[in-house]
Amino acid sequence: MPQKTTISIIKADIGSLVGHHVVHPQQLAYAEKLLEEAKKSGLIVDYRVFNCGDDLELLMGHQRGENNLEIQEFAWNAFKEITEKVSKPLKLYAAGQDLLADAFSGNIKGMGPGVAEIEFEERAADPIVVFAADKTEPGAWNYPLYKTFADPFNTAGLVIDPAIHDGFDFTVMDVYEHKEVQLRCPLEIYDLLALIGTPGRYCISKIHRRDGFIAAAASTSRLSLIAGRYVGKDDPVCIVRAQHGLPAVGEVLEPYAFPHIVAGWMRGSHHGPLMPVSLKNARCTRFDGPPRVVALGFQVHDAQLEGPADLFDDPAFDKARAMANEAADYLRRHGPFMPHRLGPEEMEYTTLPKVLEKLKDRFRSVGP
Ligand code: F6R
Ligand code: MG
Ligand code: MG
Repeated sequence: MPQKTTISIIKADIGSLVGHHVVHPQQLAYAEKLLEEAKKSGLIVDYRVFNCGDDLELLMGHQRGENNLEIQEFAWNAFKEITEKVSKPLKLYAAGQDLLADAFSGNIKGMGPGVAEIEFEERAADPIVVFAADKTEPGAWNYPLYKTFADPFNTAGLVIDPAIHDGFDFTVMDVYEHKEVQLRCPLEIYDLLALIGTPGRYCISKIHRRDGFIAAAASTSRLSLIAGRYVGKDDPVCIVRAQHGLPAVGEVLEPYAFPHIVAGWMRGSHHGPLMPVSLKNARCTRFDGPPRVVALGFQVHDAQLEGPADLFDDPAFDKARAMANEAADYLRRHGPFMPHRLGPEEMEYTTLPKVLEKLKDRFRSVGP
């Protein structure tokens, strides 16, 4: 049996340059140094360090499987060390923001950082697309993953490729109850949509082809639900495998031609369009946004990462960006009104309850 390959992306916001804008070059350089050491020690086979806005992304190829303690502990310690050695001395903004514990305690997923991992036996050629987003939440992947793996108007292969004609199984996580359910599509697409249309609660975590072949994995951590209060957004990551019996790379990217509305803009409290951008433009400015997503393509070989191809660095996505700017203007004009501002259930985890608390005693009872 050939050794299986695991691709892990583990990310955290551990402080950034000028408010919540971008990761500092010294943080990236320090992360490179630590990952190079991990490669030399044999812990990992290959790596890439990048950022989407204020989130530092550690992408690793290795052969240790999913949920591996050594990999998780390494990533945790890397985030801690970069916080101590770079973020704090430079007084970067919100240094160590996503690290919700003092020391690693066995499962990085409940400690702040976001994780997406896929373990697989490499095919003759194995393309993957790694997505990372800023100023949004894990449910932001629901719409594009549904389009790619369940909508024949997006993915021609669902109709014309016998390898995927039977459909995919979606694992959906209830992030409030910590429960998951698997739904068979296309048979259960209406049930699936009944859940994932509420992206703040139900998030797609894994997708398998009907024969069990793993096709996608997404992070599901919601910081506010771990900490019980707003501590920054849960800017998510996702890995999608493509081609040869799976959706093509172009079918994986196609949903992003429509900048759908996601939660997480400004103070984690507003809806805005998800704008597909190149790495160079993965930095939030206007009203701390609008929310952005990058897509990096790799050919995986023996757990090594060939790439990245910066897939949204393409005029074919200019129209989506223009549409996102239109939608941003339209929503911004609502100011503090819903639906630009999130609904009350989501606002519970922000600082708004403190403001409302002050008014509590001023309410007088009136008749019906
Ligand atoms: C952070 C984010 C930002 C901040 C905002 C206020 O991910 O989305 O919009 O919430 O800049 O930040 P503080 O409260 O740290 O001044
Ligand atoms: Mg931040
Ligand atoms: Mg962020």
